[in-house]
Amino acid sequence: MAETKKIAVIAGDGIGPEVVAEAIKVMKKTEELFGLSFEFEHGLFGGIAIDEKGTPLPQETLDICKNADAVLLGAVGGPKWDNNSKELRPETGLLGIRKELGLFSNIRPANVFDCLREASTLKPEVLEGTDLIVVRELTGGIYFGEKFRREGEHGEEAVDTCVYNVAEVERIVRQAFDIAQKRRKHLTSVDKANVLETSRLWREVVNRIAPEYPDVELEHVLVDNCAMQLLRRPASFDVIVTENMFGDILSDEAAMLTGSIGMLSSASLGEGSFGLYEPVHGSAPDIAGQGISNPIATILSVALMYRLTFGYEAAAQAIEDAVSEVLNSGHRTGDIAVDKSSAVGTTEMGDLIVAALKA
Ligand code: IPM
Ligand code: MG
Repeated sequence: MAETKKIAVIAGDGIGPEVVAEAIKVMKKTEELFGLSFEFEHGLFGGIAIDEKGTPLPQETLDICKNADAVLLGAVGGPKWDNNSKELRPETGLLGIRKELGLFSNIRPANVFDCLREASTLKPEVLEGTDLIVVRELTGGIYFGEKFRREGEHGEEAVDTCVYNVAEVERIVRQAFDIAQKRRKHLTSVDKANVLETSRLWREVVNRIAPEYPDVELEHVLVDNCAMQLLRRPASFDVIVTENMFGDILSDEAAMLTGSIGMLSSASLGEGSFGLYEPVHGSAPDIAGQGISNPIATILSVALMYRLTFGYEAAAQAIEDAVSEVLNSGHRTGDIAVDKSSAVGTTEMGDLIVAALKA
């Protein structure tokens, strides 16, 4: 029996609790099959925490996370809190948890499942072979720079500042090179070095680190061009590394290549093995509580957690194989079903994946 690992569970809002419940079901089955052992501790986060505790990220939730070996997050936000002031927005909690837990690296794989190729808005022949990872810097840049309003010459002005230091760029770029080295050995660094000073620093640092990875082929692409190339030649990308805001935008674009955002998992990592794992999709308040949401992205996030935080490769692979098997036998939740009338619900999909799991 493996050592007991502590998992902080922050299910959040909307469909968060539904999809997290299915992921936990899968984790429990892997305890049985692979001799793993988990202890789950639940914390309030996001809109529900605003309602119950008056803040999106209560200190006790943060403590639960800091005490854990990994965090499993559902989703946060919803129309109910959209007009709140900054301190009382679920998104502020999300930025806070990233910063507080030192999660500077956000890894978002976008791979096209063969049996779901038709779900994308792009032509199947353009998508053929698409399997890329966006590595997004997560705790710096314009998201965390100084922000303020002031009285300017022409009335009220707003200022957001974008700051990166060398160390911040180095650590994320090294991580991206490491990931590329274990994959197809191709790294695309995305910036706006023709305009932005932070991007010129970014590019300098990338070029300085590159000789440490002689086997990895490096290309620099400007962010506007990258947005275009992602639609034109998605399969030619392997690992894309970029700063916080560009990564936010490009990772949504990359997710949409697959046509099935309900399938995409993500990891947010810091210096050690600790990580936060969550589906790429949001809280989908329009379908919350109906039992029709797709739990696969959260279940695949567990596979990422097993691989990246715990090194449980066999169990990670088993989860991915079980998901493939269920999809290949034709089962779909509504979001990815062509024939909506035969779609399965959230718990049914979870049960199917649990049943397909093999040691
Ligand atoms: C994401 C989201 C967040 C971000 C929002 C909700 C603050 O879009 O995780 O990509 O911009 O980082
Ligand atoms: Mg985003």
